[in-house]
Formats: sequence, structure tokens, C-alpha cells
Amino acid sequence: MKNTQRHFVDQIIPHRTPKQKGIGQAPVNIALSKYWGKRNVDLNLPTNSSLSVSLPGLGTETHLEWMENQSDEIYLNKTLLKSDNAFAQRTSLFLDLFRPNTQGGFVVNTINSVPTAAGLASSASGYAALALALNDCFQWDLPLKRLSLLARLGSGSASRSLYNGFALWHKGQLDNGMDSYAEKIDQAWPELCIGLLEIDVSEKPISSTQGMQNTVNHCELYAAWPDKAEADLQKIHQAIERKDFQQLGQTSENNALAMHATMIATWPPILYWQPESVAAMHQIWQLRSEGCEVYFTMDAGPNLKLLFLRQDTQTIQDHFPSVKVIHPFSDE
Ligand code: PMV
Repeated sequence: MKNTQRHFVDQIIPHRTPKQKGIGQAPVNIALSKYWGKRNVDLNLPTNSSLSVSLPGLGTETHLEWMENQSDEIYLNKTLLKSDNAFAQRTSLFLDLFRPNTQGGFVVNTINSVPTAAGLASSASGYAALALALNDCFQWDLPLKRLSLLARLGSGSASRSLYNGFALWHKGQLDNGMDSYAEKIDQAWPELCIGLLEIDVSEKPISSTQGMQNTVNHCELYAAWPDKAEADLQKIHQAIERKDFQQLGQTSENNALAMHATMIATWPPILYWQPESVAAMHQIWQLRSEGCEVYFTMDAGPNLKLLFLRQDTQTIQDHFPSVKVIHPFSDE
């Protein structure tokens, strides 16, 4: 596996000679049309394309430095992690792909402004920030599309976190994975709001990688997913171009529920929801029946992300007092 990945990286980066310290910053992203399932596990190649919106102000900042004659030191939110920590091990494995030699190590300082592993996609902003920090540290000067390819190896959804606003991750056709990267969709939607509804921010019971592979291998309904996901992506892309919020909301909510339906229909079943997640869904459907255009999406966790327009902010805050409202396009 390492060889496949290192060979992939060799085709992208010009050299492995570190020049200086590096810094990278990246936002988290929420998929409106989801990625669920890999066609190649080593290269993180997805079975379907996906489309996301980034959340500015929430994400990861990573500082990186190469040090000769010492092993990796990984700090998460200012705490030095033990070398057997899962986050530290995953980070070091990724850094193996870029190491100039085996004698030295990277000092990595990662600050996350979202809870780690809570279904809020901290791995997406994390690996995008790390790819940017590597680009800075080695002075590769790579374009974002190439960095998207590198970030993808750390976490699939990280390929989309190189961009603000909407991003589209092309699943690609090639076996070598060189055409599976994300691009920015050049459309702003200033009225669009995302509401983060945190139900439970503790560590999730099953990782998204494990969850999606169990689904691919042990769910008969999964066969219908890739085509549906592609069709949904087209509808959402069109909704963005036409600023058709109803189409965006309906398709996103339905896409998320279809993804979760494949998980629930897996054996053994995968259910990320908590009773409070379902209660929040009912509240959203009730609000909608009263005329408020609010929809939701969910990832590999119990938390909900609400989709609504700026004009409905007060209603949403009245009904969900704990909601954190994000304006993805406030600065564009
Ligand atoms: O990038 P990963 O391996 O953490 O997978 C992310 C999967 C979902 O968040 C559920 C969907 C998506 O497209 O972000």
C-alpha cells in the first residue's frame, strides 16, 4: 500500500528537500451530495463524485517543521500526543509519503477549531491544511488541484477543503487516481446559511472509512447509490447556478438520508444517529410544514447541519437555541 501511495506522490511533487517551516490553513466542508464508498482503498478513490460547501472560520491551522535526527512530534490543540495515539499514528503514516529520509521527523502543530472526530469533518480540514503546510515547507508551489490530490490520500473529503465556497470532487476514471481531485465551483450564494446542530461531539463509534467499506461489502442497497449520488450532484449543481433553494435543500436532505439508508441496511447495521438526531429531524419537518424552508444534511455522526436562507435565521434560532449559524459566503 505504501508503495502505491508513494508512487502516486512521486508523480505530483517535484522533490523531497525541505526548505523552511510551513503553515497551512483550511476550512471544514459539508458535503451536500455525499461521498460514500471507495473504488480503490489505497488511493482513496471514490465510487461517486461529491459536492460540498466550506465553512469559513471553522477548520484547521497546521504548522510544520522538518528536524534532522529526531522522530515525529505531533501536537493537537497544543498537547503533545503519545506516539501510540491514533491521530498521531495516522498523521505520521501520511507524512511518511513526503519524508526526505528516515532519520529525521516532522514537528507538527495542529489547531482544530472543530471537535476532532465528531462527524464535523475535522479530518477534511486537517489533511487539506497539512497538504498546504507541506507545499509551504518544501516550497513546491503546487496549484490547488494538485494539492487536492495529495490531501485526498489523507482523507477523501479533504480533497474538497482546499477551497472556500462550493467545491466539486470529481471521482475520476483513471486507475492511477490522477484525475480524482476537487475544483472550486465559481458561484457565490450570500443568502445561504448553514446551522450546526451539535447533538453529541464525542468520538464516533465507527470511522467513516470502516463504515463505508462495510456498506460497500455488506449492503445490497449500495448498488443503487453511485448512480443516485451522481444524479443528485447534477441537481444540486444546477440549483446552485439557478439559486433554487428548494431544489438544493430537497436534494441535499434526500441525498443524506439515502446515504444513511445504505448504512442502516448494512449487516451488521451502522447507525450514527442518536434519539436527539431523530427528534431534530421531526422538528425540521414540522417547521417545514409550517412554511419555513429549512432542510438538513448529516455525515458519519449524530449531528445535523441545517440549510436555510438568511431571512429565516430568527425562526431557526428561536426553534434551535443552541444552533451555530455560519455564512459560507459572507466575505465573498
Ligand atoms: O473523508 P472521509 O473518509 O472522512 O469520509 C467522509 C464521508 C462523509 O462525510 C460522510 C461524506 C462526505 O462526502 O463528506
